[in-house]
Amino acid sequence: MLSRPRHFLDIDQISRSDLRRMLDHAAALKRTPRQPLLTGRTLAMIFEKPSTRTRVSFEVAMHHLGGHSVVLRPEEMQLGRGETIADTARALSRYVDAVMLRTKSHATLTEFAAHATVPVINGLSDKSHPCQIMADLLTVEERLGQLTDITVAWVGDCNNVFASWLHAATAFGFRLRLACPPELAEACRIWLAPAEASGILSIITDPVAAVTGADVVVTDTWISMGVADPERQRTLLRPFRMTEDVMARANPAAIFLHCLPAVRGEEVTDAVIDGPQSAVWDEAENRLHSQKAVLCWCLEEQGVP
Ligand code: CP
Repeated sequence: MLSRPRHFLDIDQISRSDLRRMLDHAAALKRTPRQPLLTGRTLAMIFEKPSTRTRVSFEVAMHHLGGHSVVLRPEEMQLGRGETIADTARALSRYVDAVMLRTKSHATLTEFAAHATVPVINGLSDKSHPCQIMADLLTVEERLGQLTDITVAWVGDCNNVFASWLHAATAFGFRLRLACPPELAEACRIWLAPAEASGILSIITDPVAAVTGADVVVTDTWISMGVADPERQRTLLRPFRMTEDVMARANPAAIFLHCLPAVRGEEVTDAVIDGPQSAVWDEAENRLHSQKAVLCWCLEEQGVP
């Protein structure tokens, strides 16, 4: 019987020990970026939404490891003319060794994965962004030396990137605070409730209280791709802008993270994103190193060391 491919769809589906191995491998790959680990392997990438970091970091990752990548846009594929997701997954699986998808709907990702016979990687969906959080965890560990016994304050909408932070907090046991307008938190209540009940997550409406004493402060664009009412979102989130005054409440050794792209002057001021505590460019670079480790983990059972 054929074994199921090892998909990277969400952090909460992967064991802590495997996440730990991937982070250690990412750190080693950062020290030695070019290794022939994926020689002759091909990654297909399907983008239903725009990307700068995800596309370039995956393409360069494959190149550094001796492999190759193919970038596809649905409107250029038969998918855009009605071929089913399942048939696309079956066909691509006969050509390539892994597929990365950036999808508008998480259901597309899970349907593709259900029919693919090669590993499928979540390159961002409306539900989560696990590749981003692997890079963020690598950055935190580099800067702070640990992932346990730290407090992470997320200031903004409880969006798809936050969902992956919550998965990571559950896996590694760090404290996560969410500073979010009650109107937006309410919409996420169902999936936030278990983490809040377990004590991993605190939901706080005051951004200053959430950031006070935190070791890591994270924000994200107020208007994620696909948000239905951008003006309402802006109005609700205006008091949650990351300014120097708010950042000053964090632990003096705290770092500031943003997955990018940033809307400067909206969710974060120039003084914070360009300030001494900002680690956003290391964070962006770490997409490259952590995704190499994700690719190797996905293909481990196919003989990748
Ligand atoms: N953070 C992130 O996923 O960036 P891109 O949208 O540029 O890929």
